[in-house]
Amino acid sequence: MTPSIGAVVSDIDLCKQLTSTQCSEILALLVEHHVLFFENQPVTPHQHRDLAANFGALHVHPVYPHVSDVAEIIILDTSVDNPPDNDSWHTDVPFIESPPMGCLLSARELPPSGGDTMWTSCAAAYDALDDEYKSLIENLTAEHDIAKAFPESRYGKTPEAQAQLAAARQKNPPMIHPVVRTHPVSGKRGIYVNDNFTTRIIELGPDKGAEVLQFLTSHVARPEFRVRWEWKQYDLAFWDNRLTQHFAFADYLPHRRVMHRATILGDKPFR
Ligand code: OGA
Ligand code: MN
Repeated sequence: MTPSIGAVVSDIDLCKQLTSTQCSEILALLVEHHVLFFENQPVTPHQHRDLAANFGALHVHPVYPHVSDVAEIIILDTSVDNPPDNDSWHTDVPFIESPPMGCLLSARELPPSGGDTMWTSCAAAYDALDDEYKSLIENLTAEHDIAKAFPESRYGKTPEAQAQLAAARQKNPPMIHPVVRTHPVSGKRGIYVNDNFTTRIIELGPDKGAEVLQFLTSHVARPEFRVRWEWKQYDLAFWDNRLTQHFAFADYLPHRRVMHRATILGDKPFR
């Protein structure tokens, strides 16, 4: 779709069990293009889970609600009663030791217009830095905190929600990862700090750390590194969560938008 990111994959039925050749072809395309779009794939939650399971073990989210009998499928059901909060650049679940390698997002119910999603290539963003900046951030590490993205004001409104959030925080203490990570398959390097979850850079003082974080999080969002997708019902996006970030437009209220997500675990980020 652009030189940096995005490809549309056609002539495949994701409701059927994939062959191992199809799985490896999809993985190769994912590594090359960072985000893949498959149109008209009306997967059931069980099919969605089984599809994702071809690519690795699945994560069960500690806060988001899930489909009633499929714990691995998150429901993102946003409306006036539950306004969207994914309208900031982020990678999914960076607060665990081995964050997801990828996510599969299925559009279930869409507003009449709006509700697009953008992805950005953190590899293209890294490549565009000058050598001096690359060496400045080379050996830094940063902290990622579930509490920053899931604040109590939003996710702890009832006593039950508050207890669930407290348990999620306790089970997921702040996690430290390299600021620049290397993709385990392509060997490409990319920026691995984001607006939603990253709280501080460990090796820098608060002022310099905040300045570097601010620079990197706005740099990854530059228009030339990104692609934007206008959803149709049953489109399915598969992104490489290691070297991308995404941003969901929150421009559709008072209409409702429902998405389902499967989250595939990956490996521990390394420099
Ligand atoms: C997600 C997410 C984007 C969207 O599923 O992780 O941020 O467009 N969703 O709903
Ligand atoms: Mn997300």
